[in-house]
Amino acid sequence: MRRRPVVLVTGANGEMGHGLITQLAGTPEFDVLALDIKELDPGMAAQCAATIVGDILDQRLLERLVSEFEIHAIFHLAALLSTRAEFTPETAHEVNVTGTLNLLKLAVEQSRWHGQDVKFLFPSSIAIYGFPSLHAKNQAGRVTEAQHNNPTTMYGCNKLYCEHLGRYYAHHYRQLAVEVEKRGVDFRSIRFPGLLSAFTVPHGGTSDYGPEMVHHAAQGQPYACFVREDTRISFMAMPDAIAALLGLMRAPRAALTRDVYNIAAYNPSAGEFRDLVEKAFPGAEIDFVPDLRRQAIVDSWPIDIDDEAARRDWGFRPEYDLARTFDEYLVPNVRARYVTAG
Ligand code: SER
Repeated sequence: MRRRPVVLVTGANGEMGHGLITQLAGTPEFDVLALDIKELDPGMAAQCAATIVGDILDQRLLERLVSEFEIHAIFHLAALLSTRAEFTPETAHEVNVTGTLNLLKLAVEQSRWHGQDVKFLFPSSIAIYGFPSLHAKNQAGRVTEAQHNNPTTMYGCNKLYCEHLGRYYAHHYRQLAVEVEKRGVDFRSIRFPGLLSAFTVPHGGTSDYGPEMVHHAAQGQPYACFVREDTRISFMAMPDAIAALLGLMRAPRAALTRDVYNIAAYNPSAGEFRDLVEKAFPGAEIDFVPDLRRQAIVDSWPIDIDDEAARRDWGFRPEYDLARTFDEYLVPNVRARYVTAG
């Protein structure tokens, strides 16, 4: 029996999953196998070659995948985000770390079957950075990949460790085995900033105040922003995030000088963000009621991100600046979403 060649997307029903599947399904090179803990939205499922409801912690399920599908690339998007993870840190560790380990193992096994490297695309995060104080964050300014890797959240710790796991599987896996095996995992990771999506409402993140402002305003609901007006971190529009994942996947291996790349597009303060939302949705009611503990998490994340390596090695260029993100992406699509939802 011939197994079906596919690209596996975990966390398919999440924010990034939706955007990614739409893009992947539009290209003839990929059949998508979507995996999520929840039933995939019907519109999404229609774009996939196969969908599976299941848990990345379920070893048997992953073993079954090996027998049915020939997996050539994995976009491992499933994760518990930073706010959510602080409520159940040990569960977050299981999902974020053990889940990733299971998929790296799956990638090795798949590569043994079909003899080619399995590309493993892993979204990491600005949460892997960590400053002990707002003063230290302000002093540091723009950060490179190697600086200030001292996360204060379970999610940040998990993502940072998984970056290392990916590097291990790609370059050092079973390095003492008698027969040195071809390693088989081509690990590529992007540290994303806060993401702004028009089509899905975020949940469980700490950068969610950005998108939440827009989605509340579009529905005519007041919004109490949980960080101070002067809070500043990097953000980008979801279409650029998806394009970046695909861009990194397609880059020739020889062009890549790193396993993990920073990217970002802009870094408005929460107050500047509010101004744009009010301009787009006159009458929007937004005020600032900082939640000191979530504030501390955002204050531990950098003000700005150095993404020179991504620009140089694989041509990363965001297409959406902040004005275009609002005018052409967020405002029309978010408005249409709630008109339709009615
Ligand atoms: N958006 C994520 C979060 O807030 C950070 O990667 O958890």
